[in-house]
Amino acid sequence: MNGRLFEKVDIYIRDLLAPEDMALKEAIRSLDAEDIPQISVSANQGKFLQVMATLCQAVNILELGTLGGYSTIWMARALPEKGKLISIEIDPHHAGVAQKNIDRAGVADKVEIRVGSAFDILPGMIEKKEGPFDMIFIDADKPPYAEYFLLALQLARPGTLIICDNVIREGKVLEEDSDDDKVTGVQRFNKLLSETTSVKAIILPTVGVKEFDGMALAVVCR
Ligand code: SAH
Ligand code: DHB
Ligand code: MG
Repeated sequence: MNGRLFEKVDIYIRDLLAPEDMALKEAIRSLDAEDIPQISVSANQGKFLQVMATLCQAVNILELGTLGGYSTIWMARALPEKGKLISIEIDPHHAGVAQKNIDRAGVADKVEIRVGSAFDILPGMIEKKEGPFDMIFIDADKPPYAEYFLLALQLARPGTLIICDNVIREGKVLEEDSDDDKVTGVQRFNKLLSETTSVKAIILPTVGVKEFDGMALAVVCR
């Protein structure tokens, strides 16, 4: 098996089940134009998030890490008319580009981008008793993933689905003495996930057009 085959199969699935409309294509194009890294979820991962939001019958979604709004658009399109997605983004440039992409995608009425660090914004949301959210997608900076997960649990209810991107990192999570703080961040998160008895969780390895990685899925127990 080789990466090329995984990529071809991912494209086959995308063409069948996750075709991108102009707004999604433009969201990806805007990243190059604005000198923003191409680290959005893939089309199939976006569709996966949309299917999960639909399964959750999500009305309120929380996202950490907006980038250009690509994953935001996929998820927002699963929301009912009065649904709402709050996406937290630390970089005002990313947030500005994302807002344009979200406007173009026709989901601006459902999406609110909050500019600032998730680390600063989440405690205030907990204090104000915002939520509970039906689905939470964690995809911001990797070193504090464990802390983000603990904060997310406080914005959740029994049945909430918490999804965390990039928890396998090309298999580098197997390295016992990594000095990459993204790797150690997700290792710490994965261990916490295994010890958190209030959720039922699994990690799905992901292969395809992006590098080998994985998404953690955790459902808060009833
Ligand atoms: N979810 C996006 C990709 C997010 S990439 C998609 O799939 O389309 C990660 C994003 O998290 C970047 O835009 C980065 O600026 C942002 N970020 C980094 N640290 C953050 C923090 N502390 N709080 C909120 N966002 C953060
Ligand atoms: C990185 C971040 C992501 O969210 C992602 O999906 C891929 C890579 C990164 O910071 O390297
Ligand atoms: Mg990611």
